[in-house]
Amino acid sequence: MEIIEKAPAKINLCLDVLHKREDGYHEMEMVMTSVDLADRIALKTLEEDLIVIHSTNGFLPLDQRNHAYKAAKLLKDTYHIKKGVDISIEKKIPIAAGLAGGSSDAAATLRGLNRLWHLNLSNEELVLLGEQIGSDVPYCIYGGTAYATGRGEKIQQIDAPPQCWVVLVKPKKGISTWTVFENLSFEQLVHPETEKMLLAIQEKDFLQMVCNTGNALETASAIKQPDIKRIKKKMIQFGADAALMSGSGPTVYALCKTYSKAQRVYNGLKGFCNEVYLVRTLK
Ligand code: C5P
Repeated sequence: MEIIEKAPAKINLCLDVLHKREDGYHEMEMVMTSVDLADRIALKTLEEDLIVIHSTNGFLPLDQRNHAYKAAKLLKDTYHIKKGVDISIEKKIPIAAGLAGGSSDAAATLRGLNRLWHLNLSNEELVLLGEQIGSDVPYCIYGGTAYATGRGEKIQQIDAPPQCWVVLVKPKKGISTWTVFENLSFEQLVHPETEKMLLAIQEKDFLQMVCNTGNALETASAIKQPDIKRIKKKMIQFGADAALMSGSGPTVYALCKTYSKAQRVYNGLKGFCNEVYLVRTLK
């Protein structure tokens, strides 16, 4: 039997860093939503006690560094499962991009193996496993739209934002999350107004939503990857209603109310970057 799980990418409509914690992590406040760009995870039981990973993307590690591998290993160790698994990852989400691709693969693996091995674990139990793999994995267990706090692992599901078009642009060089947090200068942080974003979503007010997008990590990431600022500027020039970096970057996304605007942004950026995607927020 083969189980298929979709692993959607996410964007951060708001990302705020409140303070550095004693455990080294940063206390966060985020609003994230899934978009219809997804990896596809296929899972098959192996009688041998092995975790085997295949991927369509040659840059993805296939060993214990892979988030899907970590998820399968953690589930096996925690619940003393002696069977193995063959995990096939059809990679569509760019790697090291700020779109939670690896975290979403881990979450999809946890959800899928829960079904394949009839473990009957609740989402809350999967979240407890997910947070051991990475701060974004708990959100990815649920997907959809959420308000996240703590180091990102405390999830409150909220209504979907007004549906719109999203143009994702991933500059060539990726960024590792820890390098952005490592040198964060708190005096330079620009804090978004998360409460206004939550209200805009609740009231399905597209204008207020685009006015209140914000990412406190953008300045720090843009120093490492100057294309972030260039892409944002071009998106606005081509008519985007909002342009913002997602997560710790370097992917920049444009929000557009209409398809025609999104197409203009997409075509305009296509000549500038290789990895450009025209997608929608999920309902
Ligand atoms: O949790 P995750 O492994 O995805 O985080 C990667 C790195 O990003 C951490 O090792 C830490 O340096 C940084 N981080 C942080 N505060 C957070 C989330 C991540 O400092 N809330």
